[in-house]
Amino acid sequence: MTGQGLDHYQKLDVDKQDNDDALRAVYDEWAKEYDHDNDATLGTISQPKTVEILSAVLEKHAKILDAGCGTGLVGVELAKRGYAAFDGVDLSAEMLRYAKTRGYTKLFQYSLNDPLPISDGAYDAIISAGLFTHGHVKTHAIRELIRITKSGGYLCFTINEGVYRSQAFDKEIQSITDDKLWDIEKLEKEAYMTKEQVQAYYCLAQVR
Ligand SMILES: C[S@@+](CC[C@H](N)C(=O)[O-])C[C@H]1O[C@@H](n2cnc3c(N)ncnc32)[C@H](O)[C@@H]1O
Repeated sequence: MTGQGLDHYQKLDVDKQDNDDALRAVYDEWAKEYDHDNDATLGTISQPKTVEILSAVLEKHAKILDAGCGTGLVGVELAKRGYAAFDGVDLSAEMLRYAKTRGYTKLFQYSLNDPLPISDGAYDAIISAGLFTHGHVKTHAIRELIRITKSGGYLCFTINEGVYRSQAFDKEIQSITDDKLWDIEKLEKEAYMTKEQVQAYYCLAQVR
């Protein structure tokens, strides 16, 4: 059974929106049903998959930022794998309210479309599941996430296949590579929302 929050999300023409307000309102409303819909309706598996990919290269004491942490499903997976120093940032206060019980050291409410009030090289790694998708965060945010990652640190994130070329994520990834800001370790299209037959690109990159 589809909850109201997901219903409103699916009706929002996210590709046409040019500010964060409508999306914030939808996630605020969806928050209480989000975890149920993630599993039962969408069959989303990006949270354990991104953590599995990152944990293959990242030491357990690393300081991590979960970008677009939502209700904290990535935090649950990080804790399962023995990570304890992770923060989260998200647009929606209601989504963040659920994340409070999920092991995050600090939670911030910001838009990742804007410059972040976080110093250069503050984190050993950034992880992000489900953030780069229809109408959420634009390509320029990737460079801001690189800025706040230490040299030698990692970014591990998904990009929904539906926006990968249409929103020029492919070009931005190539441009960042050409600018020698990172080395791509993995970039592969794999299962994402298994009950909707939607795949995502899973990217793991090491910051130079
Ligand atoms: C599909 S959910 C993924 C949540 C979580 N990472 C997970 O895997 O369950 C996308 C999240 O991105 C957040 N989001 C959307 N636009 C954002 C923005 N501009 N800045 C920060 N977070 C944003 C939403 O509030 C939502 O929590």
